[in-house]
Order: sequence, then C-alpha cells, then structure tokens
Amino acid sequence: MSNPPVPAASGASSPWWADAVVYQIYPRSFADGNGDGMGDLRGVMDRLPYLEQLGVDAIWLSPFYQSPQADGGYDVADYRQVDLLFGSLADFDAMLQDAHRRGMKVIVDLVPNHTSDEHAWFQAALGALPGSPERDRYIFREGRDEVSGSGDGKRAPNNWKSVFGGPAWSRVTEADGSPGQWYLHLFDTRQPDLNWENPDVQEEMRAVLRFWLDRGADGFRVDVAHGLVKEAGLPDWEGVAAMVEGTAGPRPDGHLPGDAPGAHTDAEEPHRAVSPMYPPSPFFDQDGVHDIYRDWHRVLDEYGGDRMMVAEAWVEPAERLARYVRPDEMQQAFNFDFLLAGWDAERMSEAIEASLAAAASVGAPSTWVLSNHDTVRHASRFGLKDPTTFPKGIAADDEQPDAALGLARARAATLVALALPGSAYIYQGEELGLPEHTTLPAEARQDPTFFRTRGAETGRDGCRVPLPWAEGQPGFGFSITHGGPAAEPWLPQPESFGPLAADQQDGEEGSTLELYRAAIRFRSARRLGLGSLEWTDEHAPDSGLLAFRNGDVLVVANMGFASAPVPEGYSVALSSGPEPAEDWAGMREVPVDCTVYLQPE
Ligand code: NOJ
Repeated sequence: MSNPPVPAASGASSPWWADAVVYQIYPRSFADGNGDGMGDLRGVMDRLPYLEQLGVDAIWLSPFYQSPQADGGYDVADYRQVDLLFGSLADFDAMLQDAHRRGMKVIVDLVPNHTSDEHAWFQAALGALPGSPERDRYIFREGRDEVSGSGDGKRAPNNWKSVFGGPAWSRVTEADGSPGQWYLHLFDTRQPDLNWENPDVQEEMRAVLRFWLDRGADGFRVDVAHGLVKEAGLPDWEGVAAMVEGTAGPRPDGHLPGDAPGAHTDAEEPHRAVSPMYPPSPFFDQDGVHDIYRDWHRVLDEYGGDRMMVAEAWVEPAERLARYVRPDEMQQAFNFDFLLAGWDAERMSEAIEASLAAAASVGAPSTWVLSNHDTVRHASRFGLKDPTTFPKGIAADDEQPDAALGLARARAATLVALALPGSAYIYQGEELGLPEHTTLPAEARQDPTFFRTRGAETGRDGCRVPLPWAEGQPGFGFSITHGGPAAEPWLPQPESFGPLAADQQDGEEGSTLELYRAAIRFRSARRLGLGSLEWTDEHAPDSGLLAFRNGDVLVVANMGFASAPVPEGYSVALSSGPEPAEDWAGMREVPVDCTVYLQPE
C-alpha cells in the first residue's frame, strides 16, 4: 500500500504537528528544579537544552494544575492555576517562552471528563440539594431502589465499573446527614465525571482552552477524549460481566493494601481494572463527543499558528478513531493499536496499515507511540514473553522482563516508529532506554489503580519513576539543586537507572540516547514524517520481516528468528543494533531484533 501524503492544512506548507516529534513530560518525574524531590516547571526549563539537542519539535506536559494529586494531577481542582508542587504561572510562562525561543511547541493536557473532588464546582454540588444547578454540572442520580420506590437507594444507579477498579458510583451524605444521591466517576472516587450536557460545563471548558491559548500554548492533549458523553438514560452495560470475570482477590503474596483516600463510599468488592480497549459501551465513544470537538476546533481557529488537539481515545477499530480527527475536529489521535501490537511483524504491519488508511480517509496524519505514563515502558514490555498482554504495571513476583532483549527490541521498534509518516510521540526516559521499575515496594505506590483493585493491578508507578540525569549524584541527579541539599525523589529509582543516566549516554557511540538523536536527525533531514509508506518486496510479516520504503529510505525491521539479507544496492545508514557506526557500511545482514535504515549505495 502507499498512503497519500498528508494534506497541508494551511497554505502550501504542512502544519507543524503533521510530522512533529513530540516529547511527553510527566512533570513530577522529569526534573526537579528546587530540590524537594518532586519534578517541576523550573526543572523542565533547566532541561530544555537537552530536549533541543534531542531534536524534538514539541513537548507535551501532563497536568501541572492545582490538584490534590489523587491521580497524579489528572484530578484538577483549578484549571487555571499551577499547583504549588510544580511552581507558578510565571514559571509556566517563562518555560513556554524559552521553549518557543528554542523552536519547540508546547502542548498542555486538558482533562475535561472529570474534575477533582476538590474543585469548587464539586464542593458546591456537595453542599447543594439534589436537582440543583450545582449538582447538574456532574452526574448525580438517585440509587436504583429509590427510583423504583422499592428501597432506600442502597444500590448504585447502574452497574458501571471504574476504569481503575471498583464501582463507578459513590454515594454522598446529604446536608441533613442522610445517605443521599450517587455520583458517577469513571475513574477514582475523587474524580467526579462532569455532565457534558450542562451549558456551564461547555462554556467553562471553552474558557479554559482560551486561557491556555492566550498564554501561548500550541495545543492540547485531550484526556479521555472518548468519555465525555454518556448514553442517554445511563443504561447498564453487558460488558461489565467480562470485566468482572477478571475479578481478582488478594495478590499471590497475600498482600491487601488499603483503600485509596476518599474511596470510603465504594461498598462493593474490588475487581481488576478494565482493559484499555472496550466492547462498545454506554460510556465511551458515544457519537455526541464529536460535537464537542467541532466546537473546540472553532475556538482554536480563533487563534493563529496551527494550534492543535490530540485525542487520548482508546477506541477500536481504527475507523472509529479516525472520526476524532476529521477535518473539523481534532488534529491527531494517539494510535494505541501500534503500541499494543507487540514485537510481532504481522500485528505491527496490520496496525500500521489500518491506521494509515483510516487517518488518510479523513486527511489526518497518523501518530506513533510506544510508551506513555499509563503503560509499561516498552524497553520492558518487549522483554516479556507476550508483549501484547498490556499489563498495568509489573510487580516483583510477576514475570520479570528480559532487560537486554527488551532494550534491543525497544530500540528497533523506535526506529520503525520514527521512520513512519505522521507524528511520533516519545515518553520521557525512553530515549535513555529506561526499563519499568518492577520492584517498587507497596508502600511507595501511589497509583489509585493499585488501591482500588487491592493490588490485583500493580498500577502505573513503575513507568513514572524520576529520571536519572547523572550517575554519581544523589537521586541520579534528578534534583538540580545548584549546590543545595536534595530530598529523595518522590518515587525510589532502581539501581539499573545509574548506568542509563543521561550523562553516561551523552556522546557515547551506540547509546540509546545517541540512537534517538541520530534517528530524529535522520527523520527530519529526510522529511520522513511527511513522506509515505510503501511495503517492499522484502516485507514478509509471516516470517517476521517488516520492510517499507519512505522516500528513498528502505526500513527493514527483523522480528523473526534468523538474520535477513540487506538488499543489493543498499547500505546501512542507521542501525538499532550495538555495532559502531563505522561498521554499518559493511553490514550485509539485518540481525534478529534489529531495525536498519537503508539508503541506495
Ligand atoms: C488518562 C490519563 O493518561 C491517565 O493517567 C489518567 O489516570 C486517566 N486518563 C484519568 O484522567
């Protein structure tokens, strides 16, 4: 197949996002600029030269807004304030200006599906009566038996479960002390879902968009973009049965951690958190979400500079995902099919083909992502026996990844991603080849998934560990203290991070950091992101070979069991393998678990 080149959105040139390499910053774990052990915006600013040298076009910052941090900041108490943990609005402005000066765009995270329970609106709703305008901004309902008149409202309004495990409803206590209505939270108890039919909610989120656009933000990563609208009547969902089949008791080690703070109203037994991809459900991928994105598109159009939105939407199949990036909606959507394909040439080529075709059908660029703050780092995932199982974290008593195999495949998969047409997302630390932290003690864990499933799901903390910048330093240099003392990083780092610290890889031939730098340079010089893909004669997914041409570059990824020949007339321009660059010219074979970029001799 050959995908049509991405159409230009304005004038003759493509918008910046069409082929951008975007670097995801999880602020609490990227760099600490004040020595308190928690990453912050000053830390981001201090490390911008590193990102400039890496060659990325944009940064996306996970939430840094005021928040009680019940879900790492994806529980926003004030959409217009920077949390004190991370600095101030002035720090944001300074960081954004510096990023722009260095030629990097800045994407901020928008969390429109839910607020924190500490948001002023939710507090007002708790203090207001059932049926009040304050309650109508959220999804409050009577308990089931209350509605039928047959009981005292002890049963939740429907059978939906939280994505993090446990029920999706919690019951409030009314002002007179009586047990009252229930509110919906598709995630943690402390993340009440907003009611997107309410005009206040719509108006407020438009205003939040403008607030950050006015400050110069170049785009938004839209959290749970598939979840904002729920099916009318909030019907029960049959899919819950499948979710609950995965019900897990205590972990094999018998450990039963306590509940998340505030989870007191969840009465039912915990169960495994749901899989990222769902059968059609009444709470995800409802057609009504698209009206919201058309509305926001018009808001972004009020501003110049090709502002953009990227959808975090876990929907299948690719055609459904493409609906989020129609010309009058968002500009990009994360391609999670690619992330879930594992190190498997057949699955990976199907995911590539399906997403390119679906994106091209609506004139959007595809995106390529292998890791983020919600998934096991790909250097570890690819070291598992089955990298497609999508575990939510890895614990010490789980299967441990093969670190060397995982890293070799991760480097090779990254070269595939960076050579594909479209935009590529890099998650902080993957450029260092960081593994998942698989032995975090239960006491250190913070992810609500761990608590809500009573440890049946390990949770996502293992991919959120503070980055190592300098091997010999306390906290591997995570805190930039300018000579002052540094607190322990907020999550402990594994010993394996030491040799992978940025200072150990900088300038080291063959290091993962230098491989990323070289691959990004190559991609940019050849304009691969704006190119098109054509499978070549060498493409043989059933024997583990993925091979495509993009411009005059031939990319061969060997996911099979035997070396594959380098085709006649080509030489290796870049290899994910450990050989030094001076040996590439003589390479006539692509080893197993390796990707090469080939150019005509
Ligand atoms: C998706 C975010 O990536 C994840 O970290 C968060 O927990 C949920 N949305 C809820 O906001």
